[in-house]
Amino acid sequence: MDFQELIARRQSVRDYRTDPIDDADLARVLEAARLAPTACNKQPFRLAVLRTAERREDLARIYHRPWFVQPPWVIGVLAVNDEAWVRKDGKNHAEIDAAIVMDHIVLAAADRGLGTCWVCNFDPIAAREVLGLPPNVEPVAFTPLGHPADAPRDKIRKTLDELLLK
Ligand SMILES: Cc1cc2nc3c(=O)[nH]c(=O)nc-3n(C[C@H](O)[C@H](O)[C@H](O)COP(=O)(O)O)c2cc1C
Repeated sequence: MDFQELIARRQSVRDYRTDPIDDADLARVLEAARLAPTACNKQPFRLAVLRTAERREDLARIYHRPWFVQPPWVIGVLAVNDEAWVRKDGKNHAEIDAAIVMDHIVLAAADRGLGTCWVCNFDPIAAREVLGLPPNVEPVAFTPLGHPADAPRDKIRKTLDELLLK
């Protein structure tokens, strides 16, 4: 699919089919995550790839929405703060890197006709417990991954004129 069309069509999917996705599609999505750029190429992230069928209760603790566990997979992107590039003023870039990784996941999934939805409104304490994360590893975002069951929607966005700095 043409890239402009891909980003125009991608939308947050909050209704999924429950059937499996191809292993090859999952592999492509994870490869897109692996290839994401990171500040100074530090790659300060880890991926939690969770089968919903095996982790329903754990995942409901992390984010309690029925659609979160409808599809076969949930992927979490975790920032490893002490592996990240830190700017002179002390700004740690681990979360920026993790966000780029998640966007690669989301766009690669859309390219395969798969649905995703960025989820940051999760319970960070539950996520830490469920995934057994040490203090230096921060859960940044999760997404369900599977076949979408929703209909296309119009995008609501500011105009470019509103976004350009005057
Ligand atoms: C950083 C970030 C966090 C988000 N967190 C959530 C969330 O916790 N739950 C949710 O349903 N949607 C979440 N979203 C999805 C946004 O609501 C959605 O991207 C936005 O409304 C635009 O809609 P679209 O993705 O369909 O174009 C998040 C999106 C981003 C980029």
